[in-house]
Amino acid sequence: MAVVAVVGMQWGDEGKGKVVDLLTEGADIVARYQGGNNAGHTVVIEGVKYVLHTIPSGILRKDVLSVIGHGVVVDPAALLEEMRLLRAEGHKIDDNLRISAKAHVIMPYHRLLDRATEALRAERKIGTTARGIGPAYADKMGRSGIRVIDLLHEPTLRTKVATNLAMKGSFLAEHCQGSEGSALDAVAVTAQYLKFGEELRPFITDVDALLQRAWREGRNLLLEGAQGTLLDIDHGTYPYVTSSSAAAGGSCIGLGLAPSRLDQVVGVVKAYTTRVGEGPFPTELGGSLGATLRQRGDEFGATTGRPRRCGWLDIVGLRHAQWINAARWLAITKLDVLDTFSDIGICTAYEYEGERITSLPLGEHALSACAPVLEWMPGWRTSTTGTTEWRKLPEKAQRYVEHIAELLEADVLLVSTGPQRQETILTHQLW
Ligand code: IMP
Repeated sequence: MAVVAVVGMQWGDEGKGKVVDLLTEGADIVARYQGGNNAGHTVVIEGVKYVLHTIPSGILRKDVLSVIGHGVVVDPAALLEEMRLLRAEGHKIDDNLRISAKAHVIMPYHRLLDRATEALRAERKIGTTARGIGPAYADKMGRSGIRVIDLLHEPTLRTKVATNLAMKGSFLAEHCQGSEGSALDAVAVTAQYLKFGEELRPFITDVDALLQRAWREGRNLLLEGAQGTLLDIDHGTYPYVTSSSAAAGGSCIGLGLAPSRLDQVVGVVKAYTTRVGEGPFPTELGGSLGATLRQRGDEFGATTGRPRRCGWLDIVGLRHAQWINAARWLAITKLDVLDTFSDIGICTAYEYEGERITSLPLGEHALSACAPVLEWMPGWRTSTTGTTEWRKLPEKAQRYVEHIAELLEADVLLVSTGPQRQETILTHQLW
């Protein structure tokens, strides 16, 4: 048995969905530990593309139990729609999905608050996904949050909704005029969310107990992170981050597992860097190089459709992520996107105020003032798409992958060479 966390090492969109789907082949349970439907995990199986937002990617395997942990914030309407789509594709949901009773609920007023606070931030906006994630986590920490279990108890839900709307009402009335009036109607919101509760009732459970039991029975547990370490609320490029603990440590908090239970961490690293939303990005490429990466990598948000900003691999950011996560294994994704480049940049340090630094600077504005120091590696200029064996990779591509692993002091578990399950070079067995 083993407990393995899969975490993004950059600003999200590393390709965790595919990696989790692959690794669940040997898992009994896949448990998502943070984030909400801001995530978009894309998995392609036999030509069918699935974009999962709240449900773990394990749901696509019929003998794996998928668990939504209490560290996740759940938008019931979005979750029910995802369940409907999966059912329509013939996937088993009823016995294969469980939701923590303690997970917090994204309410309609959270989405309004997300948009209103972004508008007020003006040029300092974060570029959120507008799904209400930040306000939902703010209520959790402020001890006003509504949990999934509350959706099953009318008096609790009614009182909490009324109190929350009383606390937020005047701000919302001032800043969200005319939009989604029913979101501010306590009676209507309570009635709608009680209905969601009834639909979700068969799936709601005590996830702490479920995972304790699974661990004692010696099951293989895969802990699925969303977003990435540089978007982590504590370890990311604050304030341009999401509102949860995306790094490996978050898996213990978000699922009720002791840190000593965690056996290994798999860090997912895209072969170059992308970022959606605002915030500093030292290796960002403007012009045709950035456009080529975006087009070849199909770098458009799976949740919002926004074009992703693209740039060279940033080892300074990755080294930081590696301090936090200590990934034993690396999953290097989208290597084939680099197939056409004659030279490939790797940023190993920054120039900051006339000095060369090799770790992320402190201070909100410092990272924007950093210029990348690039090392160049020769491109392989031949197609690697769909390659399934390490020895069939061009030597220059092998060297690129090995160099990343050396710099991060970890071993390569797999290299992804295309979106399909089988387009993968598996260099080790995890389970
Ligand atoms: P929020 O999570 O919607 O509050 O957005 C905060 C920041 O995290 C924004 O820059 C988003 O673009 C980014 N973000 C949130 N979820 C994801 C994701 O799944 N992939 C990449 N970026 C994300």
